[in-house]
Amino acid sequence: MTRHPEVNYFYQSNDMAAHVARIDSVYFWRGVNPHLTITAEPFAGSARPYTFGQEDIDRAVSQVTIEGYLQTRPTLPVDHCQALSQGVHNIIAAGFHPIYLTLYDEYWQTMQRITSVMEPVLGPGCYPLGDYWAWCISKQTAGAGWGPHRDYQFKSRTLREDGRPTLVTVWLPFTDATTLNGCMYLIPMDRDDNLPDHPENYHFGDLQDIRALPAQAGTVLAWNQYVMHWGSRCSQFAQGPRISTGIYFQSADYDPYVGKPVDFKQPLPFERRLGFVASNMLNYHQYHSYPTLLLDMCFRQVQALPNFASLVPSTLLELMP
Ligand SMILES: [Fe+2]
Repeated sequence: MTRHPEVNYFYQSNDMAAHVARIDSVYFWRGVNPHLTITAEPFAGSARPYTFGQEDIDRAVSQVTIEGYLQTRPTLPVDHCQALSQGVHNIIAAGFHPIYLTLYDEYWQTMQRITSVMEPVLGPGCYPLGDYWAWCISKQTAGAGWGPHRDYQFKSRTLREDGRPTLVTVWLPFTDATTLNGCMYLIPMDRDDNLPDHPENYHFGDLQDIRALPAQAGTVLAWNQYVMHWGSRCSQFAQGPRISTGIYFQSADYDPYVGKPVDFKQPLPFERRLGFVASNMLNYHQYHSYPTLLLDMCFRQVQALPNFASLVPSTLLELMP
C-alpha cells in the first residue's frame, strides 16, 4: 500500500518504536532546534504584536467581509520566518512531521503577535484554537497541499450579520509561497454561486473566478469557513519548499468552536501542545492512515487534554485503549 506523504516523514528509522518514543521528550526537541525554545509559559514574556499598517488592516477587514478572505502585506520579520522555516527543515531532517513545529514557543508567540491584525477582524480578545496543521510542500516531501475543500465543519453559523467572520483559518507562509511551490488558491466568496445557501456544493462554472494567492513569507492570510480553497501542486522548477501553517482563530464573544482554546494569559505546557498535535493527527487519520504505532502514541498523548474523549473522532474511540 502506498503511504500518504504526510506519513512518510516518520519513516526514517529501522526501529520505528524507538524513533517515535523520542517525540515525548522535550529535551529531544530542544536538541533538534537549539535556536528555538520550549518553556511552559510561552506568553509570559513581552511578545510585542506585529505592526500592520492601518490601510492593510482596513483592507483586510473589508476583503474578508466581501470576498471571504484576507491577505496582508508581508509583515512578520524575515528573521522570525527564517527561524520557523529552519525549524521545520530540522524537524524533517530528524525524521518527523512539520506539525511538530508547534511544540516551540516561537510558533505560539507568532500567533500572539498577529492578534494586531486578527482583532480588527474577529473582535477584541480573539484567540487561536489548538486545531492546526503545518506543511512543507516540495518534490522531496509532500508534493501538493490539500485538495479543494471548505473548512466548514461546524453546524453553527460562523459569520456575523455584517459578514465578518467569528471563526477563520489563519494561514501563514514562513517561506515565499509561489505558483511554482504550491501556493493557495480559492474562489472568492462573492464569486461562488453555492454560497451562502449550499456550502456542501463544490462545483463552480467559471475558471476565471479562481484566485491564486502567491504570498511572500511573513504575510498573513485568513479565510472564513465557507470559502472553497486548496493548496496547489509544486513544480520541479520551484525555487524552494512552501513551508506554512494553518490554524483556527475565533472571536472571544463565542464559545470555543473546538474544545482546545489557547489562552494568551495562561501557560501552554509542552504536554498540552503534544496533545493538540495528537488530536489533530487523529482528526486526519481518515485521510492519512497513520500506522498503529503512531495512532497508539496519539491516543496516549491526547489524554493530556482535559476533555480528550470529546476530541477523538467517534470512529476511533473504540480503538482507544
Ligand atoms: Fe482548509
